[in-house]
Amino acid sequence: MSFDPALPRGVDAAMRWLTKRFGRAGLAAPALDARLLVLAAAQISHEAMIRDPAHELTQEQISLLEDYAARRLVHEPVSRILATREFRSREFRVCPHVLDPRSDSETLIEAALEGLDPDASWRILDLGTGSGCLLITLLAELPGASGIGVDLCPDALECARGNAVRHAVGLRAGFVCGDWYGALDGKFDLVIANPPYISHGDLAALPPDVIGYDPVLALDGGDDGLDAYRAILSGITDIMKPQARLVMEIGNGQETALITMMRRAGLAETGAYADLAGHIRVLKGKFENN
Ligand SMILES: C[S@@+](CC[C@H](N)C(=O)[O-])C[C@H]1O[C@@H](n2cnc3c(N)ncnc32)[C@H](O)[C@@H]1O
Repeated sequence: MSFDPALPRGVDAAMRWLTKRFGRAGLAAPALDARLLVLAAAQISHEAMIRDPAHELTQEQISLLEDYAARRLVHEPVSRILATREFRSREFRVCPHVLDPRSDSETLIEAALEGLDPDASWRILDLGTGSGCLLITLLAELPGASGIGVDLCPDALECARGNAVRHAVGLRAGFVCGDWYGALDGKFDLVIANPPYISHGDLAALPPDVIGYDPVLALDGGDDGLDAYRAILSGITDIMKPQARLVMEIGNGQETALITMMRRAGLAETGAYADLAGHIRVLKGKFENN
């Protein structure tokens, strides 16, 4: 894609120019996208841009910004272009093999932390860890905890390991390649999971920013979207300590089916948590008799 050579040199003007361009192209958040890309190309902070809106991009930075903008115009998400995503106020590296962490998943963090003593030595298991954003966030907020993140994708685990080191929890986090908890021994106090939950038939209708860039392994939940939950719930009680909690992210409208599946697995639902749009996004459960 070629660019109008009139992309202005001043950061504020470049941002306004790109906002219009992205708006005309129908992107959902043109001003935010333009700001993040201009700041990254210019390598300055938002505060620095406010202080000096006329700050000029070098020719090299203009070329970089043109490249970023061309990629955004074909629906590559800003987080993929910049290989980084903020999740609960922490920066996580993202690679093509991991799901782009979603702000909706912060609901899972809130649900998992609810009622936990932050200083106790919880043992956490994160099923389908991807970038590691869930496990690493919990370890950062629970200084006495340790945990294991499991994923079927070895490249995702490399990304998660790097993020654990970046957030100074590397010594309390282990990462294991496997099919859910099949390769693990021992029991856990807290099991969290954000498995793939889009039904196979709905994949093609996902927005291009999603289906074009998030790995299918992170999205495809089989014919009804519930395959991963079936696999996870089939033996989950064997790896939960008696007082353990299970906290799972779910897709829109899946709560009734999943509460039934949890009950069949011997777990009682203890909480249903809505995301910012008001959809039930997270279910929490425990052993029925505890
Ligand atoms: C929806 S993504 C969640 C990633 C991350 N936990 C997050 O919330 O951003 C689901 C993850 O499950 C992994 N996965 C899919 N099938 C798996 C399986 N059978 N065993 C282990 N991990 C699996 C995918 O590779 C992907 O990283």
